[in-house]
Amino acid sequence: MSIEDPNKPLRQKSYAELSHTMPPSSEVIDAVELVQERNEALDLGAGSLRNAKYLLEKGFHVVAVDRDPVALEISHEFADPNLEVRIMTFSDFEFPTDEYDLLVAKNALPFATPEDFPQLWKDAAASIKSGGVFYGTFFGPNDTWASKPEMTFLRRDEVQHLFPNFEILKFEEEETDAFDIQNNPKHWHIFKVTARKR
Ligand SMILES: C[S@@+](CC[C@H](N)C(=O)[O-])C[C@H]1O[C@@H](n2cnc3c(N)ncnc32)[C@H](O)[C@@H]1O
Repeated sequence: MSIEDPNKPLRQKSYAELSHTMPPSSEVIDAVELVQERNEALDLGAGSLRNAKYLLEKGFHVVAVDRDPVALEISHEFADPNLEVRIMTFSDFEFPTDEYDLLVAKNALPFATPEDFPQLWKDAAASIKSGGVFYGTFFGPNDTWASKPEMTFLRRDEVQHLFPNFEILKFEEEETDAFDIQNNPKHWHIFKVTARKR
């Protein structure tokens, strides 16, 4: 019989575990309505698959990328042949070109390092078909986490400059005092962008 060390710190649960029962994001629901052909979708940083599940219901074939293996465990709860879960980092994912009718990156791209971000964004943008839709978020400099050097924070003008080949359909900047998924108080500074590729 093994005896657990009572002083061993409990592992902090991941975002995917903690958000398992969360509904799909309202912005993802809105973005789906803007997509002309519901064929291929990419969910970057898919976490608990809450958005990927919604995309499957709406008829997409979905590639869900996340480095957290919990995403794969969750996918086994509802075997869906239209879902491909890839447990890997964003930089290891080989983005196809002109493939996706919809790319969702909800609270995911800011977790790329500032060194990786430019190439990641270039590849992600190139993977969207002409006429396809992007919905994603970026974190701004007033965010509580802006002191983390391993994450990417962008000013409003820097976010706007990411979209020269897109028509911006919705651009929202939000600053709110709330909590993170671990229930720590947090100031959120978020840009939410929905855009159509030209
Ligand atoms: C804040 S969660 C958002 C999850 C989901 N998009 C949602 O809205 O519920 C961020 C997710 O991105 C994943 N992630 C962060 N950095 C990553 C990286 N470099 N490569 C792959 N996945 C990453 C995390 O494991 C986590 O599941």
